[in-house]
Amino acid sequence: MKDGVIADFKVTEKMLNYFIQKAHNRKMLVHPRIVIGVPSEITQVEKRAVMDSAYRAKASEVHLVEQAMVAAIGAGLPITEPSGNMVVDIGGGTTDIAVISLSGIVYSRSVRMAGNQMDEAIMNYLKRKYNLLIGERTGEQIKMEIGSAHQLDKPMTMEIKGRNLIEGVPKTITVDDGEIREALSECVSTIMNAIRVALERTPPELSADISDRGIVLTGGGALLKNLDKRIREETGLPVSIADDPLCSVVLGTGKMLSDFKLLRKISIE
Ligand SMILES: Nc1ncnc2c1ncn2[C@@H]1O[C@H](COP(=O)(O)OP(=O)(O)OP(=O)(O)O)[C@@H](O)[C@H]1O
Ligand SMILES: [Mg+2]
Repeated sequence: MKDGVIADFKVTEKMLNYFIQKAHNRKMLVHPRIVIGVPSEITQVEKRAVMDSAYRAKASEVHLVEQAMVAAIGAGLPITEPSGNMVVDIGGGTTDIAVISLSGIVYSRSVRMAGNQMDEAIMNYLKRKYNLLIGERTGEQIKMEIGSAHQLDKPMTMEIKGRNLIEGVPKTITVDDGEIREALSECVSTIMNAIRVALERTPPELSADISDRGIVLTGGGALLKNLDKRIREETGLPVSIADDPLCSVVLGTGKMLSDFKLLRKISIE
C-alpha cells in the first residue's frame, strides 16, 4: 500500500490473509466481513482493486468507507447527529479533512501533504544547510523527537548522524527545534491552508457548530508537537487531539463491524 492505494496486489493480498489468520488465531478457513477505510479521492479503478484484494483474501463481504468518516467514528465524534463535526486526519501520505453531519460527508478533501512529506522536508533541509545526508528513518525520528509546528515552551536539541555530502564521511551535528520548525514550515502551511479552505466551504449553519465543538485531529501527524496550538491560534477555534490518534481509523472500522445499520448508511460502494 502506498498513499492509501494498492501499489502491489500480491503483497496486499498476502498481508490481508496474514491479518485474517492472526485475528482469528487459527488455521481454519474463515470468511470474514471486512470493512476497509479508503481515501476520499480514490478512483473507481482503485476502489475495485481494494475490493478485489479483500475478496481474494476470502472475505465474504467487503465494505468501503471513507477514512475521514471512520477516523471521526474512531475518535468518538457524534457523527450521526445533525450538528457539524470537523475531523483532520494527518497520516503518512495524505491529510484528509472532512466535515460530517447526519452520518454524511458534507465536505471532504485530501491533500498529499502529511508525515512522509515532513520527513522528506527535514532531509532536504539538512542537505541544503549542512550538506548532511540522512535516511528517511532518521528524518522521521527527528520529526517525532523535536519537530513542531509552533514555538516550544522549552527549546530542544538533537544530535544527528549522517554522511557529509562533500567529504563523503560520517558526521554528527546538533540541530535545534527552531531549525526543524523552519524545515517543516511549508508542510505545516499547506495543511493550514487546506483547513482554512475547508472552513470556508462549510455551510454556515454547520460552521456555527464547528466553532462551538472545534476541530478534532487524528492520525500520527496529530502528534506533531504544538500542531494543535498552531491550528487553534490561526483559526481561533477549539482544537483537540483524538485519544489514540494513530488508531482512530482502525478503531472506527472495528466499530462499523458491529453496527451494521450505520455501516450500510456510510459505506460507499
Ligand atoms: N509523535 C509524532 N510526531 C509527529 N509525527 C508522528 C508522530 N508519531 C507518528 N507520526 C507520523 O504519523 C504518520 C503515520 O500516521 P498514520 O498511521 O495515521 O498514517 P497512515 O494512516 O498509515 O497513512 P495515510 O492515512 O496517509 O494512509 C507517520 O508519518 C509518522 O511519522
Ligand atoms: Mg490514515
